[in-house]
This record gives sequence, C-alpha cells and structure tokens, in this order.
Amino acid sequence: MKRYISIFALSLICGIAVADEGMWLPSLISQRIGDMQAKGFELTAEDIYSINQASLKDAVVLFGRGCTGELISSEGLLLTNHHCGYDQIQKHSSVEHDYLRDGFWAMNRSEELPNPGLTVSFLDRMEDVTEKVLEGYDESMTRQQRDSIVRANKAALIAEAIAPGNGLRASVESMYYGNKYYMFVYRVYSDVRLVGAPPSSIGKFGGDTDNWMWPRHTGDFSIFRIYADKDNNPAPYSEDNVPYTPKRYFHIAAGGIEEGDFTFVYGFPGRTSEYIMSDAVRYISELSNPHKIALRTMRLDIQRRYMDADQAVRIQYSAKNANVANAWKKWQGEMRGINRLGTVARKQAYEARFNEWAAGTEYEGVVPALDSLYDLLEPYMFALDYYYEAPNTVEIVKFAMNMLALAEQGSDSALTAAAEVFYKDYYLPIDKECFIAVMKAFDENLPEGFRPEYFDSTLAVYGSVEAWADGLFAHSAFTDKEFISALGSEGIAALYDDPAAEMGRELKAWVNTQIYPEAIRLTSELGLLYHDYMRGQMEFEPEKAFYPDANLTLRVAYGHIKGYTPADGVYYEPFSTIDGIMEKDNPDIFDYNIPQKFRDVVATGDYGRWGEGGSVPVCFIATNHTSGGNSGSPVIDGKGRLIGVNFDRVWEGTMSDIEFDPDFCRNISLDIRYVLFVIDKIGGAGHLIEEMTIETE
Ligand code: ARG
Ligand code: GLU
Repeated sequence: MKRYISIFALSLICGIAVADEGMWLPSLISQRIGDMQAKGFELTAEDIYSINQASLKDAVVLFGRGCTGELISSEGLLLTNHHCGYDQIQKHSSVEHDYLRDGFWAMNRSEELPNPGLTVSFLDRMEDVTEKVLEGYDESMTRQQRDSIVRANKAALIAEAIAPGNGLRASVESMYYGNKYYMFVYRVYSDVRLVGAPPSSIGKFGGDTDNWMWPRHTGDFSIFRIYADKDNNPAPYSEDNVPYTPKRYFHIAAGGIEEGDFTFVYGFPGRTSEYIMSDAVRYISELSNPHKIALRTMRLDIQRRYMDADQAVRIQYSAKNANVANAWKKWQGEMRGINRLGTVARKQAYEARFNEWAAGTEYEGVVPALDSLYDLLEPYMFALDYYYEAPNTVEIVKFAMNMLALAEQGSDSALTAAAEVFYKDYYLPIDKECFIAVMKAFDENLPEGFRPEYFDSTLAVYGSVEAWADGLFAHSAFTDKEFISALGSEGIAALYDDPAAEMGRELKAWVNTQIYPEAIRLTSELGLLYHDYMRGQMEFEPEKAFYPDANLTLRVAYGHIKGYTPADGVYYEPFSTIDGIMEKDNPDIFDYNIPQKFRDVVATGDYGRWGEGGSVPVCFIATNHTSGGNSGSPVIDGKGRLIGVNFDRVWEGTMSDIEFDPDFCRNISLDIRYVLFVIDKIGGAGHLIEEMTIETE
C-alpha cells in the first residue's frame, strides 16, 4: 500500500512537471481537460468551449487583425494591450489632446471615441470540415486538381456559413499542413469605442529597453467598449447603438496569485513552426536571423543617433524605431535559444530516426526529398530576406512607389493625405545613411546569380553606394515636400522616371520575375511534402499529442506561474511590483520617466484595494505557450476568472515559435490588480471598475 501511494504521488508530481508546451484547439479541449484539471483547472471542457451554452470563448475576441481582447463587464467593456490599441489612441491624439502622452479616460458613455476600421471578432463556432473540403478528391488526382477542389469546396462552405448575414465572417484554415481543415465562423462587431488608456509613460513603460525582457513593469493595457444595435447585433457606428451585452464576460480575481498557480491563456497566436525540418531551422538561426539582425542593427544605430540629438526627430521616429526594434530583439533571442537548445542537431537526429522507420512505408524518401528542396530554396529565401530588409526599407523609395500607385488610381485627395503622413515623420539624413548602410550590405552579401542586374549596373554607373545615395537623394523629386504636396495625379504620374521610383520599380520587378516564381514553386512542393511529413511524424510517434501550429485561430495554452534561471547564477522571481517602477524611474531617461501623478500616489502609499504587502503587483511570468497575436489575451485562473493580461514573452524563450523549452519559455502578463490600480488611482475612472465583477476570495 505504501509503495502504491508513493508511486501514485510520484506520478502526480511527474504530471505537474510535464512541460506546459502546446496551443490547443478549443473544440478538442476535452482531450486535454484531464491534464488541465490535474494541474489545477477546476472547470470543464464545456466551460471553455461550447456551442450549446455560453462558455469562456464568448468572452474572448480577435481584436483588430492581430491581437486578442477579453470582455470584462456585462456592458461590453473590453480589455486589451496598450500596444494593440496604440493606433487608435494615436489617431485620436492631437497637440491639444495628446492621449498618448497624457492618457485618456472617458468619464461617461458619450465621451467614448469611435474607431472607424477597427473590428472585434467573436468565434461563433469551429468545425472540422476536412471531409467536406476534400469531397470529390481522390488520390489519383494531381496537385493542381486537388488545389482547385479544395478551393471550390472552401468557398462553398464559407458562403453557406455566412449566408444568415448579421456580421458573420467565416474562414477555412488548414491544420497540420493540410491534413485537417477547420472552419471558423466569427461574428464581427465594428462599432468599438475607446474608453481608456494610461499615459504611454505607463502603457509603454520600459519602452524598447525592456521589450521582450523580464523583470518587466509595463502597464500595457487599454480599454474599449463594443457597441451593437438594439437587438445586440453587429452594426456600423451609429449614435443609436447601445453597449453590447456579451454572452459571457470574465469575473476578475483580485485576491492574489502565487508561484505554482495554474494559468490558462485563451487567445489568437499568429504563427509557429514546431514541425519544420532541421534545414529550415538552420536557415533561420545561421543565416536569416543573423543577416536580418545585422541589417536592423545598422538602421537602429543610425536612427538612435539622430533621435538622441534632436527631440523633434525622436518623436518622428519613435514608432518606426519601435517597430524595427521589436522583431530585431525577438530574432536575437530566438537565434540564441535555438543554438542553446541545439535544435538543429536534435532535429537532424530525429530526421535520421524517422527516415529509418519510414523505409518501406509511404513516407520513404520524404525526408531526403525535403532536404534537397531546401537546398534549392535557400538562395531564393536569402534574396527575399535581403530585398525586404534592405532596398524595401528605404523610405523615399517606398514613398515614391506608393505615390505612383495612388496617382494611377487618380485620387488627388489620397495623394495629399499620403504626402502629409509621410513628410510629417520623414527625416532625410536618417533615410540616406540607412540607404548607404543597407545597400552596401546588399552588395556584399548577395551572391552571383541572385543579384538584380539593375543594382549592379546602377552601382557601376555611380561607382559607389555613397555616390548612388548622393545622386538619389539630390535628384529625386520625392524629397521635396512643397513640390510633391502641390502635385495632383497627373503631376505625380509624370515622375515615373524619378530615380527613387525607378529603383523601387526595378527591384520589385527583379523580385517578382527572378525570385518569387521559383521560390513559390519550391515552397508549394515543400508544402506537399510537409503534408506527408506531418502525417508521418504523427504515425512515427503515436503516443505524442500533436497540437497544430498557430495560424491566428483561437487556442488554449495552459501552464503555471513560475520563475526561471536566465543564466548561470541568476534566478528570476515570477512577480514584479511598483517598487521596481520606482527603482527604474528616471526623469532623464525617456523609457523610464513615470508620470508625476504616479510618484505622488506612491508617496501617499494609498493603493486602495489593489495593494499587497505595502506595494502593488505589476507583472508576472508563467509557462504558457504563447506567440505574437496572444497580445491582450486573458490570463485565467483555475476557476475561470481573469488574473492578468498577456502582452509579451521573455527574450530567452522566443524560440518557442520553433521549439518550446520549459526552462526558458515564459509569457509575460500584467497583473490584473495593476490594471485596476491604474484605472482607479491614476485614471480616476472608478466608474469603470464598478461595471466589473471583482472577486477577492
Ligand atoms: N514584444 C511585444 C510584441 O511582440 C510588444 C511590442 C510592442 N512594444 C515595443 N516596444 N515595440 O508585440
Ligand atoms: N507582444 C506580442 C503580440 O503583440 C506578444 C508577444 C509574443 O510574441 O508572444 O502579440
């Protein structure tokens, strides 16, 4: 008996220790629910996803086109990240009302601000439609025949699903490289109003210095409200619309959290590649990432130098700089993570075992075939990477192309608007220096046979990249704001041979004719082989639970709150508090300059209901497997209540898009109590908190 108990206890401990890897399909969550419950989830599969009754999925939305949000009141109040609502906050900002700088709090419903173009999508239902998608297909058919059958069946399924109208949108997504197809039917609301946002000095606290890092103190949240027509259906913006009544909204758990607590992230991760070949991983970690990082380092250094020297330039380039820096930093962590894990060697060993096993099966030869396709594809991928990270980043060139395209459409007002947007944030010396840096790298790194003829001949005419830059920036009319702003469609169209327009056009033509066709052909051949390789992996390891790669569809990731050791001799606690904000606070450092009001509140020590141990919790980390797109996702406790808002991952774990390492992969979330603290004590918007259901037990 004693022995029995200890083995049972051991298996429980092992159960808990099992890696929290995976992003699971909600409709199949019954397959994982036992494991979730063993780890601390107290609800059922039907509570997570149900088509018969309201479930947690009804409180989660795809926010815009790449973030997640969650409902937090019976009156359509929605929570997401500050960086997800950033565009909207910025669009409402002006010199008189700088909501980015000062924050924004609607003090009543009439002050809530509409956002044309912004939508939120609720998942109505999802359905395995593999059989329907493949109806009419048989093994003897060619690839092209299969594709056209799949396309036609998908279109028919979608048309049928959205026929009832009422804001329905549907898509059919491939899972496991086309081995399964799922249809997702969404209800899309388009009257979504801005309700609140902290000042950027809270919402972006730490900026790019802290981005992808732990310990973290970013108050990365913003609040919106969904409006509907009087029948609670989607409707375009109208003054007559009323707050949406959700089928389900999150109750908030403000009673505190502890290391080891169960956490569940429910959201829309964008893209992962867990089942790719070693060749693909090697390309990413040894070629693509290092080159892309080097190119972006040059641009960031140049931008930074000018930004540091001039406040106006800092404002002009802060969003651009943040954009460039975000992936730049992620790639570095990803590359290091892959190298540390030895993913390439591990995958190679796996492929060798698979290949041996595959002998005599339908999978024989799949691995070697993938291997040789990658050899062929690599130089094309490399050329594409260079195109997108070098010539395609030259601002004046992109602007010239954009203007010529608009001129073709003949809309003078669109031209005026585009010119205004461009020149407002354009600083020529940065663009020119970046041109020189990235085009030199382009010259040095693109091999014979994969170089645009236009590039080599233009370089030969000028003699050097520097001379080319002098010529381009001196002679392109697009650098002349007054001149360009005064031109209409005809005038712009006459600039067809402008050096910036010409460079853009020629290099684009090169990519479109010399690179893309072959790259696409090889990629679709790869896709076909992956279809088999994926199925083969599932047969090769029948015991393993395979989750489909992320594709911006709703997923469940569960784990627990846990610290980590980023380097020898260092341990990171899983929690941060406002003490850390005050430690970082420095009026001279832009990223760490907390608002005075924040300092004043901290000085009083009055944290209301949100304090704990003389401080306020700010962020926490956990082992949930998340990716880009999970920003704004609800972080849920064992009872199905909201404890936080996901907004990032730790740098050392960003290779989780390719390989998840339980020792290093952590998602970063806001503690919901910090959100409430900021709304209440900094925003003075306690009326919003009154709408919420807050539990402290
Ligand atoms: N790293 C987070 C994400 O990938 C936050 C990005 C926004 N913040 C920034 N400093 N660029 O979206
Ligand atoms: N910040 C990311 C987003 O916007 C989430 C971070 C990640 O990649 O996990 O989706």
